[in-house]
Amino acid sequence: MGLYSRHLRPRLHAFALNDRLTGQLRDRVCADLVGDVVEIGFGAGLNLPHLPAAVTGVWAVEPSATAVRLAQARRDASPVPVVVAGDDARSLDLPDGRFDAALCTWVLCGIPDAGAALAEVARVLKPGASLHFVEHGLAPDPDVVRRQRRGNRLNRAVSGCPLDNDVATLFDVSPLTVTRLDTRYEPGVPRAAGYMYEGRARA
Ligand SMILES: C[S@@+](CC[C@H](N)C(=O)[O-])C[C@H]1O[C@@H](n2cnc3c(N)ncnc32)[C@H](O)[C@@H]1O
Repeated sequence: MGLYSRHLRPRLHAFALNDRLTGQLRDRVCADLVGDVVEIGFGAGLNLPHLPAAVTGVWAVEPSATAVRLAQARRDASPVPVVVAGDDARSLDLPDGRFDAALCTWVLCGIPDAGAALAEVARVLKPGASLHFVEHGLAPDPDVVRRQRRGNRLNRAVSGCPLDNDVATLFDVSPLTVTRLDTRYEPGVPRAAGYMYEGRARA
């Protein structure tokens, strides 16, 4: 892993997804989370200030040591205890049926074989418990998709992910059942990067 992806990319993610831009969306995605929550792609802990009081703990899965360091101030300020519980959502060293909820915000696009991560989330959730998610991905309009495909290479190099992640198909073939889904172009974000999939998926 190079200097850029090790040290700079986690800072870019924390900056580009800062609370001023994403706070309201994080509030919506985190609403109704309860109990022990496994969060895949924890990043710099930007969801911590948005967790409802009913959350009793967060098990954070995050490969970037820099992101985990950047999260420290938010962990210190949060009443919710955080356990760093692994570094790869595709292989969770966590028991079956352990968690009351799961959380992932702008993560699946950066995981090669994200289907394996969703299968692991389904495994560690209690039956009937839900993954709360927001992801950017494949747009419905052919002209935007063309721009996404043209931009994939640059976006992979800079942000570590493609723009045209097929989020709907990922969930369709996963063991999770999508129970709520809102898709839209996020206002103020270039359309190629701003088609959002926000919802809940039940184990
Ligand atoms: C765009 S950032 C989003 C971070 C955070 N969820 C947020 O909303 O601010 C994506 C995160 O997923 C993490 N990630 C990449 N591959 C992963 C994997 N295999 N398992 C878990 N997390 C992963 C990255 O290190 C990065 O912190």
